[in-house]
Amino acid sequence: MTVKENILVPGLAGIPAAESAVSYIDGQAGVLEYRGIPIEALAEHSTFEEVAWLLLNGRLPTQAELDEFEAKLIANRTLPQGVLDTIASLPGDGHPMAALQVGYAALGMHSPDVNALDPGQRQEAIARLIAATPTLVAAFARSRAGMDFVAPDPTLSTAANFLWMLNGEKPEDLVGRVLDVALILHADHTMNASTFTARVVASTESDPYSVCASAIGSLKGPLHGGANERVLIQLEKIGSVDAVEGWLDQQISAKGKIMGFGHRVYKTKDPRSTNLQLLAREMFETFGSTPMYDIALKLEDAVVARLGQKGIYPNVDFFSGIVYQKMGIPTDVFTPIFAIARVAGWLSHWDEQMNDNRLFRPGQIFTGTHGARYVPISER
Ligand code: SDX
Repeated sequence: MTVKENILVPGLAGIPAAESAVSYIDGQAGVLEYRGIPIEALAEHSTFEEVAWLLLNGRLPTQAELDEFEAKLIANRTLPQGVLDTIASLPGDGHPMAALQVGYAALGMHSPDVNALDPGQRQEAIARLIAATPTLVAAFARSRAGMDFVAPDPTLSTAANFLWMLNGEKPEDLVGRVLDVALILHADHTMNASTFTARVVASTESDPYSVCASAIGSLKGPLHGGANERVLIQLEKIGSVDAVEGWLDQQISAKGKIMGFGHRVYKTKDPRSTNLQLLAREMFETFGSTPMYDIALKLEDAVVARLGQKGIYPNVDFFSGIVYQKMGIPTDVFTPIFAIARVAGWLSHWDEQMNDNRLFRPGQIFTGTHGARYVPISER
């Protein structure tokens, strides 16, 4: 193993931090594969539950394996009352991602200890965390609105059950399926910031609740998962198709970031963005369009015309918010939906990390001084 000494790579851009077989990206060609299967095929033929099993186990499940996994997830959807009480005690104006972070820690406190080195205990904790995440998100969304908690429905898919617990009504089949595909598209994405965070915490042999709570802190940021919420705020601020060019001129001259565009790896349109755009069209053909979509299309054309040569194209966060808004989901719940999906990826990487673990402890290039003297405060 060659070790690069004293060569700082800002943001570790392109520096391998681990070996992984979970997912693969070709940023130039716009390719994303989960365990070798192209994301387009999974979006068309699979379900979030099947994709979660695929990411965790490295192959597609048999019907019996999928049935067993789905039953395990359904059995783990209900939260301990102590966790619900904690969620209900949180300030209603707090961010739902902060509530989810609290929820993971509280769930860990109400769950059996997990020996991270025991594969069987890891599988139990993984099912509990994937199943509990939608319930945690929905519970806070309702408690902050002064609404009663809605118990999970064991007859619904993960996606449809989330919408049921959030809104208190069963979603139309198309809406449930659109969210199911959106969860597939967000489930994993190689060594992104929140997955790297998860792996760093995992490498200390910490518990899976801390692994996920730490990853939430990373995903919450505007440069990462927090972008989807800000895309909608950005489109609402632009306000009309005619205002797009003027707004973009201002952003570019102020060197401002355009939310939903650009990517550390993709230097072409993110394939997930293309899939989410198709989902948006399907929703609008059925339920009517929204001015946001027209503004988004105009903004995409304008940004690609001006910044495409720098490799700046729409990423996964650009169209997702428009889809979620059409489902009536509150804007600040968009990033928690990203987490509902990505928790399957984080835990797949946790499992992989624990199978061949080495504590993450990178170096640094020291830029300070040596031999400094301690000066008594009276002399400073
Ligand atoms: C996700 O890593 C993953 O896989 C993440 C993710 C996943 O599934 O886990 O795909 C999910 O986080 C998607 C990204 C969501 N974030 C945003 O939409 C926020 C806006 N995007 C930018 O902040 C930016 O594109 C990043 C952070 C996503 C990537 O930035 P990089 O790779 O660090 O690139 P950079 O900041 O070094 O920019 C290179 C150039 C700069 O211009 P110059 O200084 O060279 O002249 O491109 C410009 C940047 O100013 N640029 C942008 C831009 N993104 C890059 N300019 C305006 N708007 C942008 N969005």
